[in-house]
Amino acid sequence: MMKERLIQQFQELFKGEGEIRSYFAPGRVNLIGEHTDYNGGHVFPCALTLGTYGIVRSREDRKLRFYSANFEKLGVIETSLDELVPDPKANWTNYPKGVMWAFEKRGYKLTHGLDILIYGNIPNGSGLSSSASLEVLTGVILKDTFGFDVSMVDIALIGQDSENNFNGCNCGIMDQFASAMGKKDHAIFLDTNTLHYEYAPVVLKDAKIVITNSKVKHSLVDSAYNDRRTECETALKELQTVIDIKSLGELTEEEYEAHKDVVKDAVRQKRAKHAVYENQRAVRAVEALKNQDVELFGKLMNASHESLRYDYEVSCEEIDILVDLAQAMPGVVGSRITGGGFGGCTVSIVKNDAVDQFISEIGKTYQEKVGHEAEFYVVDIGDGAGII
Ligand code: GLA
Repeated sequence: MMKERLIQQFQELFKGEGEIRSYFAPGRVNLIGEHTDYNGGHVFPCALTLGTYGIVRSREDRKLRFYSANFEKLGVIETSLDELVPDPKANWTNYPKGVMWAFEKRGYKLTHGLDILIYGNIPNGSGLSSSASLEVLTGVILKDTFGFDVSMVDIALIGQDSENNFNGCNCGIMDQFASAMGKKDHAIFLDTNTLHYEYAPVVLKDAKIVITNSKVKHSLVDSAYNDRRTECETALKELQTVIDIKSLGELTEEEYEAHKDVVKDAVRQKRAKHAVYENQRAVRAVEALKNQDVELFGKLMNASHESLRYDYEVSCEEIDILVDLAQAMPGVVGSRITGGGFGGCTVSIVKNDAVDQFISEIGKTYQEKVGHEAEFYVVDIGDGAGII
C-alpha cells in the first residue's frame, strides 16, 4: 500500500527514531459553479481519491526538512520555522510554509520543527487542485502535531489565506473547502457567501464522471485569473450604484438583465453575466440531481461550458476540442471545462456503456488534432483530508 511504501522511503531518507504519522488530502473536481466562488455564488465540487500524502515526524529543533517524491531531483529542502517567508528558490515548499505562516499569523505557535515527506498522485497543473490539497494536508498535519483547536473549515480558510497572501494567487475558497470537507460519494453544495454547505449524494444510476486531462497549461494562468476577479469586482461596483447587493451571487438573471447597462464595458458585462448565470445554473443543477434528473444536470454542464468559453473566456483550443468531441458523442450526458481554466481538465458525465468508447475515440482524435495524448480518469468520489 502507498502509505507503507512512503513510510519506508521516509525512514531511508531521514533515518533516525521517533513516531511517524501519515496524512492524506484529496484533490477535487468541480461539477458545476465555476468562477463563482469569489463572486459570492455557489459551487458544487467533490473530493477525489487522488491527492497528496504526507509522512511526518516531529523534530526537537526548529528545522523544517521537506522532501517530495514527485520532485526527487530537488532532494531535501531544508529551512526553519524562523524563515517563513515566500522564496522562489523554496519551490513547492512555499505551499506548506505558507500554511505554517498563516497559522502563526493567527496566533498558533509552532513550537518545534518537522521532517516531512510528500507524495502526490494528482497530475501537476491539471486544475485538480494539487496545491490546495498540499495546503490542506499541511493544515491537518499542524492540527494533529500541535493539537490545535481548528475546525476543517478553518483549515480550508487558512489554506486559502496562505495561497492569497503568501503564494500570490487570489483564489476563492472552493478548492481548499472541497479538499478539507469532502465526503465519499457526495458532492458539496457550498454557498461561498455564507460558507453554508450541504452534501448531495452523487447518484448517476447508469453513468460515471470522467475527467479528461488536456495536459496543457497555458502560461499567465494566475494573472488571467486575477484579471477576471478584478473585472467582476469592477462590474459589481458599477451595479452597486443602482442596486443594493454585496456580491454578484445575489442577483437573479432577470435582475442582472434589468441593470446590466450600468456596467460600462462590453467585456465586463460578459464576465458579470457569467458569474450571475453560472451561479443560478449551479443551484438548478443541484436541484436536478436531487430530482434524479441527470439529463438536465448534463444540459446545465454544457451551458456552463459555453458561458466559460464565450463570456468568461477561460477556455482554450485544446479544451474546446475535448468538450466538442464529448458533447457530440452518444452516451455523453454533459461535458465542460472544470477548475480555473486555460488548460487543465474537462469533466463529463458518460453512460456506463459508453465509457470505453469515450476514452478510446476521444483519446485518438485528440492525439491527432493536438499532437499529444490526453489522459482519462474515471472518478471515485472520496473523503476529505485526515490522518491515515
Ligand atoms: C481555481 C480557484 C478556485 C475557483 C476556480 C474556478 O480552481 O482556486 O477558487 O475560483 O478556479 O471556479
